[in-house]
Parts: sequence; C-alpha cells; structure tokens
Amino acid sequence: MSRATVRRAWLAWAGVLMLAPSLAAASDPASLRRGERMFIQQCAACHSLRYLRYSTVQQDLGLSAQEMQDDLQRFQARPDAAMLTPMTAAIAKLGFAKMPPDLSLEVAVRGRSWVRQYLGSFYLDPSSPQGWNNPLLPNVAMPDPFWRQQGIRGGDGHGQPGAWLQPGELKPEAFSRQLDDLVDFLQYAATPDALKRRSLGPWVLLFLAVFTGLAYLLKRAWWRELRETGRSD
Ligand code: HEC
Repeated sequence: MSRATVRRAWLAWAGVLMLAPSLAAASDPASLRRGERMFIQQCAACHSLRYLRYSTVQQDLGLSAQEMQDDLQRFQARPDAAMLTPMTAAIAKLGFAKMPPDLSLEVAVRGRSWVRQYLGSFYLDPSSPQGWNNPLLPNVAMPDPFWRQQGIRGGDGHGQPGAWLQPGELKPEAFSRQLDDLVDFLQYAATPDALKRRSLGPWVLLFLAVFTGLAYLLKRAWWRELRETGRSD
C-alpha cells in the first residue's frame, strides 16, 4: 500500500470519528415534544395512536412530569395505557358518518409530504357534507383543525383551496413550522424505534472505525513479522 493511500485511509477514518457525534444530534427532540403537545390538544379527541403508550412517548421524547400529567388527566389514562381517543364509534357516526382513523402508521402509509399537505389544504365548502373540503380527500369528513391558526379559505370552484376569507392567528411561516413539528411527531409515532436507531448508529460507526484502525495496526504488525522471518513470499 502506498503512503498516499495510507494517509487517505487515516483521514477517512478520522472523518468518521468526527461525524459520529453530529449524527447523534440529528433528531430534534424539542420539535417532537411540540408536535406531541399539538397532537394531544388538537387531534387526540378524535384520533388514536394505538401502537404507542403514554409512558413510551414520555421516555422517548423526554416529556416533563407535568406535561405527562396533563396528557393523562385530559384523557383519564394510566401511564402504561395506549394513546386511545375517547371518541366512540357511535359519536363518530353521528358527527362524521365514519370513525376517524388511527394515525399510528399514517406517515408510513401515506408518506410525510402527503400528510403535511393534507393538513394545510382545507377549505370551506358548503356543498360538502361536513362543510369543509380538501383536494387530497374530496368531501372530507374531518373539519379543518387549524382554521384559527392558519385562517379560512374558500374553494376555487375546481376542488382546490381558493381565496382567504379570514386571516389566521399565525403568520404562514409560523404555521408551516407548527405543521413540521406535528408531522415530525406523527413520523416518530410510525417509527418510534428510529430515534433509538439514530442514537445507536453513531456508536456503531465509531466502533467500526476504531475496530478498522486496530485491525490495520494488527495487519501491519503481522506482516512485519512475516517479512522479517522471510515467509511473506
Ligand atoms: C373532530 C374530529 C377530528 C379532529 C379534531 C381531527 N380529525 Fe383527522 N380525521 C377525522 C375524520 C372523521 C377523518 C376521516 C376523513 C375522511 O376519510 O373523509 C380524519 C382523517 C384524517 C387523516 C387522513 C387519514 C387517511 O389517510 O385517510 C389525517 C392524516 C388526519 N385526520 C390527521 C389529523 C390530525 C393531525 C389532527 C390534529 C391536528 C386531526 N386529524 C384532527 C376527524 C378528526
């Protein structure tokens, strides 16, 4: 192996070592926590996350005891209970003619950008059964959860949101950040183990990098010995 190749290999190795801590910090727990608060306050009255337990979410996201207590009190739930909505099939049938679907796997099934776009595309439509419409789910049974924050739009006559009828409480950029938090949280809900994988990954890379270094040093020592005893060829 030439000197230049060895130098390059050592540089690559050092690069992996330096990259490891930044990879560990890649996920943003504060965004996930804000998304969790939004979900509880604006979605959980209708939607479940049946594959998640309150205690798991608290641990994974680092929710404070007070935040956890608020969530549990709101839904009269125990810490080890699944995040089930109090909405019953009978009430849902009366209100929306269908049960709001469980959202545990929503981002995995529909994709992140679909969910994000859906949540920001409601418009008022008196001809729709619920009074709201959405180009991504025509004649949607869900009322716009963000009419206050985002504002209210009318239709454009072609099944798309049209002009603004009422401004929202939030500026568009602030609303967009809020949607990011919520969709981040829904993505976590679909793949809760991704957080652990991401925090474990850098350590695995670090181990492999150290191991490669050691293996290389060992190889050099062995070959030196072989060459010295004249058994290399
Ligand atoms: C008042 C009850 C209610 C609230 C509050 C509500 N939803 Fe819904 N949601 C529904 C109903 C009903 C549907 C079924 C819509 C349909 O199929 O027409 C639905 C559908 C959805 C869908 C599409 C599911 C699919 O793939 O077909 C998503 C995503 C969703 N809701 C997310 C949310 C989020 C996120 C929130 C909180 C910001 C929320 N919902 C708040 C009742 C609600």
